[in-house]
Amino acid sequence: MAVTRTFSIIKPDATRRNLTGAVTAMLEEAGLRVVASKRIHMTREQAEGFYAVHKERPFFGELVAFMISGPVVVQVLEGEDAVKRNRDVMGATNPGDAAEGTIRKSFAESIEANSVHGSDSDENAGIEIGFFFKPEEIVG
Ligand code: CMP
Repeated sequence: MAVTRTFSIIKPDATRRNLTGAVTAMLEEAGLRVVASKRIHMTREQAEGFYAVHKERPFFGELVAFMISGPVVVQVLEGEDAVKRNRDVMGATNPGDAAEGTIRKSFAESIEANSVHGSDSDENAGIEIGFFFKPEEIVG
């Protein structure tokens, strides 16, 4: 299995509850290595650009408002089959559907305040990493 990279966001509901370390520990226990990390407060333009694929969805306005409601931690994660590995440990988007032992089952408050984002494909991981990180900010 190839070592690949994925992109993660620890969302405002998790940073507000001081869960950055707890979430990161679960990522690391799942076999992912944090090779880049920064705490930022996204601008509206950044959030709208990042989630542009969802702009026709009815929840787009609320999603953007939530993502700029507080600081987030953006990370690049590296590991074997990183996209799937991360999605497995995150759990289902809706915490009501998330399996025991996943981040969202453990910490998410709702489908919107669901504590973490993770890329859904290798292609999108590359795009999302490039949205927030310069190559020299990623140290494997
Ligand atoms: P994320 O992986 O960050 O990608 C888009 C986000 O939209 C998703 O996680 C959810 O947190 C959020 N969202 C809010 N409402 C919904 C909804 N009804 N269906 C799917 N995603 C939603």
